[in-house]
Amino acid sequence: MSDTESLIRAAQEAAAHAYIPYSNYPVGAALQAANGRLYLGCNIENASYPAGICAERVALVKAVSEGVREFDVIAVVTRDGGSPCGICRQMLSEFGPQMRVIIARDDGQITFDGNLSDLLPLAFNGSSLLID
Ligand code: THU
Repeated sequence: MSDTESLIRAAQEAAAHAYIPYSNYPVGAALQAANGRLYLGCNIENASYPAGICAERVALVKAVSEGVREFDVIAVVTRDGGSPCGICRQMLSEFGPQMRVIIARDDGQITFDGNLSDLLPLAFNGSSLLID
C-alpha cells in the first residue's frame, strides 16, 4: 500500500468516529506532520449547531496542542469527495500554506490532489498584522 493509500485509509477510519447526529455526513482527516506523526480527526457536531467542529480542525488542534506545527500533507475523506470548508482552509494555511491536500471519497477514489494554496489563493496571513 502506498503512503497516499495508507493516509486515505487512516482518514476513512477516522471518519468512522464522526459524531454526526444532525447532518449524518461523516468526515475523516489524517494530518501528517513533518516529524512523521499522524493526527486523526473527525467532525463532532453539537445540538448548538455552530459549536460543532470539522474533522480537519480536530486533527490540527490535536497536533498544535502537542507542540507540532509543521505539516506535509492532509487527507480528507467524505462520502462524495466534498472539499474542506473555508474556515478549515484558513486554519490549515496558518501552519502550512503549501501543504499537500488529498481529498477522497469514502470508497478511496481521489477527487483532488494538490496544494492548499490552490484551494485558498491569496490567503490572509500574519504578515498583515506584524507591521509596526
Ligand atoms: N465538515 C467537515 O468536517 N469538514 C469540512 O471541511 C466541511 C464540513 C462537517 C461539518 C459538519 O459536521 C458536516 O460536515 C456537514 O457540514
